[in-house]
Amino acid sequence: MKFEQKKIQAGDLSVSYLDEGTQTGSPIIFIHGFPFNKVMWEDQLDLLKGDYRVLAYDVRGHGDSNPGIQQFSIQQFVSDLFLFMDALYIKKAIVCGLSMGGYIALKAVQQDSDRIAGLILCDTQCTADTEEVKKKRSDTIHSVQANGLKQYTEDSVEKLFSKTSLANNKKIVSAIEGTILHTPIETIINTLMALAGRTETCSSLHLIKIPVLIMVGGEDRITPPEASQKMHELIPQSELYILEKSGHVSNLEAPESFNLHLQDFLKVANLEIV
Ligand code: MLT
Repeated sequence: MKFEQKKIQAGDLSVSYLDEGTQTGSPIIFIHGFPFNKVMWEDQLDLLKGDYRVLAYDVRGHGDSNPGIQQFSIQQFVSDLFLFMDALYIKKAIVCGLSMGGYIALKAVQQDSDRIAGLILCDTQCTADTEEVKKKRSDTIHSVQANGLKQYTEDSVEKLFSKTSLANNKKIVSAIEGTILHTPIETIINTLMALAGRTETCSSLHLIKIPVLIMVGGEDRITPPEASQKMHELIPQSELYILEKSGHVSNLEAPESFNLHLQDFLKVANLEIV
């Protein structure tokens, strides 16, 4: 790990996080997807630490954050985010979430728009799970319970990455494999249930009054470009970029274009938080 890990108590959680950059800069909080952890954002922290306060934390049960005693749900993850911000005296932040991180960010802005200055939504969607997806998640839970994490990791990696990444970028593929294999089975199961139980946010996207950057891998099969296009049409101040040769983990698979759009967005939006 490039950066020093820190710990802070937020509600029932001992949250593991990275906190870099200028302490007087506007805070940007990065939220990872499932089943990853804060380490996936290291390059973005490195990129922005000169101008911003950049934070990435482990969602409940993931990475080095404990599972706590509350039941896992996207709503609970939103409460965790706000408690984490409270613990660090951060009143308002720019929030960047990938996939599940995006579900959390979208619910957070729906719940308390005063605390979010700007949104970066990566490889995510505003819809709830269809009955078919819920059934698949339940089958996955049974299979993980019966067979453990190895098969689950192999299946996940196949779906997560683009063909190009699978063939040419063994480094990121094996890094994500390692992350999944080190995630506790209980976290996988509890988070799959949380994802299946989430509610949609599409119906409130037209109310979002802050600048929003949407990015998605052109080959994302989990939250495909059409899902991002739909959010872009519904969010008034949004811009959308579809990143070539990337699957579901666009910040790792297409880092050059991802970082360029991220920096441009932050510069133009000029979201100074005092
Ligand atoms: C993620 O990357 O967070 C998950 O793929 C989201 C999901 O399964 O809905």
